[in-house]
Amino acid sequence: MGYSADDLAALVREDRVHRSVYTDPAIFELELDRIFGRAWLFVGHESQVPNPGDYVTTTLGRQPVVMARGWDGLVRVLYNRCAHRGAKVLTEERGNARQFRCSYHGWAFHPDGTLAGLPLPEDYPASFDLSDPAYAMMPMRHASYRGFVFATQSAAAPDLETHLGQARIGFDEVCDRAPAGTIEFAGGCHRYEYAGNWKHQMENLADTYHPIACHESTVKKDGYQFQRRTGEAGGQAKFFDQSGKPLVPLLGVWAFANGHNSEASLPFHEEQTGEVFMRYRALLVTKHGEARTREILKPKRHNLSVYPTMDIIVLQNAVRVIRPLAVDRTEVKVYPMRLMGAPGEIFADHIRFLNQTHSASSFIQSDDVESFRRCQEGLLAEGPEWSVVARGVGREASDQAGVRFGERSSEIGQRNQHAAWVKYMTGAAVSWEPAPL
Ligand code: FES
Ligand SMILES: [Fe+2]
Repeated sequence: MGYSADDLAALVREDRVHRSVYTDPAIFELELDRIFGRAWLFVGHESQVPNPGDYVTTTLGRQPVVMARGWDGLVRVLYNRCAHRGAKVLTEERGNARQFRCSYHGWAFHPDGTLAGLPLPEDYPASFDLSDPAYAMMPMRHASYRGFVFATQSAAAPDLETHLGQARIGFDEVCDRAPAGTIEFAGGCHRYEYAGNWKHQMENLADTYHPIACHESTVKKDGYQFQRRTGEAGGQAKFFDQSGKPLVPLLGVWAFANGHNSEASLPFHEEQTGEVFMRYRALLVTKHGEARTREILKPKRHNLSVYPTMDIIVLQNAVRVIRPLAVDRTEVKVYPMRLMGAPGEIFADHIRFLNQTHSASSFIQSDDVESFRRCQEGLLAEGPEWSVVARGVGREASDQAGVRFGERSSEIGQRNQHAAWVKYMTGAAVSWEPAPL
């Protein structure tokens, strides 16, 4: 069916969302235009293209794009399309080339997108101006924040820093943990697909309610999965206190403008110890001093999700990228981050931890992915029409910067994403979004 703006707005209420939002292919098509065709979308990190001629390719919504570093050292995002007859120019996931040469008739482009040359140019009429920018691989509107590159098809979208708003704090915190003040994508990535809608993964990034059940086999007091880690004799209480009570009351979710969220971290009271950690810590102290180092190392947030496709997993030093493929099919890539300037052992440890928690066969993410598949199947049932996100309604605090906080197992994060969904899909703000105090 065709959907008017009113029809779409009626699918989302403050405390519930209609199941068709996850299952109707017509809505998915509209999302590709109105959300993925308008929002700032994460493309990659500048460290993936360290040298001139380096490139990585991806698809943003419907758009094939390439992020490349030019001979001038600048990183750009270009539409991955030949200016001649439209062939996709670069087909590898990543690489390096002096020129990006189209395989169809041989037009070649510099890594900044400008036309470098073509076979038999003399067959064009004299009036045909090959220096016209229309015959380049066209740049997409792009910008970066602390090396994280985003692009948008929208000329009307506010600049990237405005779009990220207070959520920039998550980027700052993760970069400040690196003695060199920056991170690098290193060690490849985990890639998997699941048979479910993209919003299941996004909503899960602000869900402090699910671990007690979904990840029970790993996080409960006698959880039998983490205890398989080398050197551990018994199970580790990761999400329950010594008496077996869940630690959820210590958690909560910050809801930023434009659908971005952040889960609070469990407050581990002591810093880590050990020779490697102390070496790392000393590097931070040299740079920042003792007080600031203590602040940098204090656990604050589990993650920061940037609506609609990105998540910084602060706990595991990784970035997750969510790519919608169909109404019921989604790709996830998880990129480990190296804290530049930190001892190499720290990165090796992060990789090991990430393999345990977020690889396709890990202890944690595999539980989530199975839940997404079950949601997709269950939402096809014509029983209840709504998915319910009422936890914590009416119990949200808001600071002066407009950042809202839902304590404990609040579903404020899901509500925040659904408000952003309505705004992108209809152009109008929801009436129930609370104003800042
Ligand atoms: S389509 Fe690329 S050279 Fe013809
Ligand atoms: Fe989970």
